[in-house]
Amino acid sequence: MENNPFIEEIISQMTVEEKAAQMLQVPVSVIGMDAAREWAKKGVGSFLNVLGDDMKELAEISSKESRLKIPTIFGIDAVHGHCLNREATIFPSQLTMACTWNRDLVEKIGHVTATEVATEGIQWTFSPILCLARDARWGRTNETFGEDKFLAGELGVSIIKGYQGEDLGDDTAVLACAKHFIAYGEATGARDSYDTEITMRKIRDEFLPPFKKAVDAGCATFMTAYGSIDGTPLTANKKALRGLLRDELGFDGFLVTDWDTVNALINRQRVCDNHGDASRVAAEAGNDMIMSTLEFYDAVIEQVKSGKLEESYLDEAVRHILTIKYRLNLWEKPLKQGVPGSIGCDEHHEVALESARESVVLLKNKNNILPLGKNKDIKKIAVIGPNADDIRAQYGDWTYFTHPVPGIEKEPQRPYVTLLEGVKELAQGEDIEVVYSYGCSVNRREYYKGNFPGIPEFMEQCYADNDHDAPFYEEMPLISEAASAARDADVIVLALGDNYNCAGEYNDRADLNLSGMQEALVRVLETLHVPIITVLISSKPLAIPQVVKKSDAVICAFNGGMYGGKAIAEAIFGKINPCGRLPISFPVMTGQVPVYYNQFPGWHEGRYVDCPKDPLFAFGEGLSYTRYEYSDLKFNKDTLTVTVTVKNAGEVKGTEVVQVYIDDKFSSVMTAVKNLAGFERVELGAGESKTVSIKLEEEAFTVVLPDETRVIEPGDFDILVGHSSKNEDLLKVTVTF
Ligand code: GLC
Repeated sequence: MENNPFIEEIISQMTVEEKAAQMLQVPVSVIGMDAAREWAKKGVGSFLNVLGDDMKELAEISSKESRLKIPTIFGIDAVHGHCLNREATIFPSQLTMACTWNRDLVEKIGHVTATEVATEGIQWTFSPILCLARDARWGRTNETFGEDKFLAGELGVSIIKGYQGEDLGDDTAVLACAKHFIAYGEATGARDSYDTEITMRKIRDEFLPPFKKAVDAGCATFMTAYGSIDGTPLTANKKALRGLLRDELGFDGFLVTDWDTVNALINRQRVCDNHGDASRVAAEAGNDMIMSTLEFYDAVIEQVKSGKLEESYLDEAVRHILTIKYRLNLWEKPLKQGVPGSIGCDEHHEVALESARESVVLLKNKNNILPLGKNKDIKKIAVIGPNADDIRAQYGDWTYFTHPVPGIEKEPQRPYVTLLEGVKELAQGEDIEVVYSYGCSVNRREYYKGNFPGIPEFMEQCYADNDHDAPFYEEMPLISEAASAARDADVIVLALGDNYNCAGEYNDRADLNLSGMQEALVRVLETLHVPIITVLISSKPLAIPQVVKKSDAVICAFNGGMYGGKAIAEAIFGKINPCGRLPISFPVMTGQVPVYYNQFPGWHEGRYVDCPKDPLFAFGEGLSYTRYEYSDLKFNKDTLTVTVTVKNAGEVKGTEVVQVYIDDKFSSVMTAVKNLAGFERVELGAGESKTVSIKLEEEAFTVVLPDETRVIEPGDFDILVGHSSKNEDLLKVTVTF
């Protein structure tokens, strides 16, 4: 990357203090506006978590009052819409949007999000997460695109394109941020920010591909992960940050640390015992911008002035930052313009509804009980459960509920549609009575205290009397109330799952069973012998084999955003034909994780003696109100192209997600029993057939050797094509290279 004379001129004028300030990202939500104003005058590089007039004031000070008038940049976690702004469009979570397997739609979500973030004036979103969620105990599973590197890479590129558009200088373009580099979700025991016992070979094979695609897509920023690789924190990991990301992948944007990770080198990971060493180590490892560690400023200045750290490290970091600011055209427009009036506009809400509809995954439909709309005997529906009418549970993480920006209210902001509201709306048109009962709580303590007005008085007393671990037996009256409500219903719609206190950063789980009295609620409802349609509104897969067994139908909705409830109700009534497919496997029980589909072979018997071999639900799985038949599978070895004929053999139109997996039969290092290598969505009318062509990447046929080189080894490869990762759903053709 040749040097830009405009930037070189600025750097030549900067003092070491100004370089240190430019490398800093300051959390306004922590230090307040008075201190933030002072940092703006010092020429701080960036602020985070500030909106509205406060943000505009800081932008003004930076670009007009600081000595060199270098514009500052604002970052925010707009990770499924600009959700820290109550007025904004709130999309399904990243895991939920991954259920769509729809590149174009995910790009559209990115573009709408960027437009609303830019309309706020902000130039940068800390999104997408490209970590893989291969152990659902991890609290941040909901923020990922699921367990697979190919799906995560494809959808990651889509949303980055949506965020950044064609030119970073455009009014609606914002910087994307591929995070968290690298293998953050793979920590031992799925413990957030903990150590990952992994080799560089495994990192290259499994975790690098999505980040490589992000670099190739021009992602402007990356974020360093909290954790460590075999004892070396990523913040201090020169081999990962400089060797892999910069030198090998050719990343030319800037790298920001995660929150206060420079201090974490001292107070969590204990690889440094003072701020000077930690700041020097972070700069030498290749971190360009330091998030929230304010001590970095004085410490790094002292390191340079005492000769312990070459000032050239600061020059290099500042160069990376200013180059991106230059590409944002910040000196002309210190704040983004966006599209005035577009935040929360109808057109954007339409995209949120479309996303929610396409993310609904039908997992069980015994005797085709669904869709209800065709069954005229249904006169009364009982909507039961803690997540049927709780927008906080439906939204999940990273909204104005979970990460409030100072000055922003936390009360729910309309419009949104919960499952109960969606069912009521559609039942009205069918002259069906709807009754509702709460049933039981999910995680009463911190979650409900003061957060959930209208909770029955006696629940407050329960909260006051019992400690966190009490099994909530005092909720039995709620359960019996629900049973009474459902007793003479024709069908029960049961909304279970988790809420944001059971998920997210700092909230890993050791137990993936349903929390609270939810299993008890199901057992009581089962005694009524009323058909049960269970809807999982949760941040992640949960171990629910008994619930699945007791349910006539099961829908996985995860966190569907502002119209999640509407989309689920439409699927239940048959207004839409579900087309979602799982981006992550469901475990039968907690002890079965990691249960991701692309396991290595070689496990004796391939199962635990006390757990079935297969997952509860498989990667890529999802039913429809129609059925698809595959035939004529062919593979062109020269063009690496798969062709297959898909027929809609049912009576209603639908969208199929054709999936292509590759199994490298024999190789000098072990490879997974199959790996996703391609997918395409195809819309088919009733009875219609289409031939689908999917071109595969050469990389899909490679292995990473112990010397960390990636090669294609001669031999046989099975090309597997079909409806899900399950062998019974796949046609096979074998090719020899
Ligand atoms: C958080 C998260 C990161 C987020 C950042 C700023 O701790 O790890 O994903 O972007 O801090 O909020």
